[in-house]
Amino acid sequence: MSSFKSDFPVFTHDPTLVYLDSASTTQKPKPVIDAMTTFYEKQNANVHRALYNLGEEATNAYEGARKKVAQFVHAPSDKNIIFTRGTTESINLVAYAWGRNFIQAGDEILITEMEHHSNLVPWQLLAKETGATLKYIPMNSDGLLELDHIDSYFTSKTKLLSMVHQSNVLGTLNPVEMLNQKAKSVGAVTMLDAAQSVPHKSVDYQKLGYDFMAFSGHKMLGPTGVGVLVGDMKILDEMSPFLGGGEMINSVTMDSSTWNDVPYKFEAGTPNIAQAVGLGSAIDYMNNIGMNTIESIENELTEYALEKMKKIDGIILYGPIKRGPVISFNIDGIHAHDLATFLNQDNIAIRVGHHCAQPIMDKLNVPSTARVSFHIYNSKQDIDTFCSSLKQTQSYF
Ligand SMILES: Cc1ncc(COP(=O)(O)O)c(C=O)c1O
Repeated sequence: MSSFKSDFPVFTHDPTLVYLDSASTTQKPKPVIDAMTTFYEKQNANVHRALYNLGEEATNAYEGARKKVAQFVHAPSDKNIIFTRGTTESINLVAYAWGRNFIQAGDEILITEMEHHSNLVPWQLLAKETGATLKYIPMNSDGLLELDHIDSYFTSKTKLLSMVHQSNVLGTLNPVEMLNQKAKSVGAVTMLDAAQSVPHKSVDYQKLGYDFMAFSGHKMLGPTGVGVLVGDMKILDEMSPFLGGGEMINSVTMDSSTWNDVPYKFEAGTPNIAQAVGLGSAIDYMNNIGMNTIESIENELTEYALEKMKKIDGIILYGPIKRGPVISFNIDGIHAHDLATFLNQDNIAIRVGHHCAQPIMDKLNVPSTARVSFHIYNSKQDIDTFCSSLKQTQSYF
């Protein structure tokens, strides 16, 4: 076992498991599971409303998690952190609560050709509803954004740039600072889908300069059901609420309501309290290792895997050389779904399909790819096991 693997109970439960699907969701270390159990056993109450001690403890645990998130991504304050259910909800929140007030017919919404459906469909819906136009920065066959004519994509009509930091299919790391500056130079609001970057490297919200940034707890060793929207306070203040209900109001009469302050204005109803606490614990766990250490271990694993995979006959690797810990591939003559089924017989978990990014498949001219992705618990031994199983599968076909 890698030194980190033993922190993850799933691998104690099943020591033969080779889990190579962390871009989809990561496994959870014991401290995260313990933090959530402790919350339910010792601190469970609703937040922000109880005057008794237990309620105060629950509120402190929840708000403590918000502070950890703010520090982790270098947000100006914990008030800039909105807890959501995940990246998808964070992006939809912006599309509804900002987009439906500030986007009009004739405006342009700029995304890229390598977006996850979560950063594509909400803008399609918004464009249809408002009469705005959705434009794409194209991707070339190497899986890199086509930047030769980049200035032509930013016009006085561009009201929003929303783009992915690191591709969940190809691992491409996009030049997000440069593109943010281009967008800002034409007065556009900017949003970064950081679902695949925040779990793997140090990400500095203020340095990148985007107005909004979204990511998911479950892809960064935390639980499902919690995600984050980091937002610029001035824009958040100007926005309408997203969902209506308890917590997000200041006062309510039968005819009208006024809104609570940010971030509570955007957290209607009882939030996922234990999940936020679990996310805080995942951040502690990663901080203890160090994000730079995590990034360099994962880089080494990715380079090792690429080198080994390159040597397999008939393999087609997609995406650039320099990339995050994600590798998409196909093997000549074998359907990706058959590959996954055969690898599963050796207890190797990989993802196959369109990875919620069908426009990338169209661009690569394939219906699907197989994908391996790594996190801190993976080892070179995992990659060796995967490559030898891949070769055996190939010889079977
Ligand atoms: C780049 C990217 N954006 C958005 C999402 C959606 O995340 P979630 O399903 O946690 O909302 C994913 C999930 O795979 C992703 O990889």
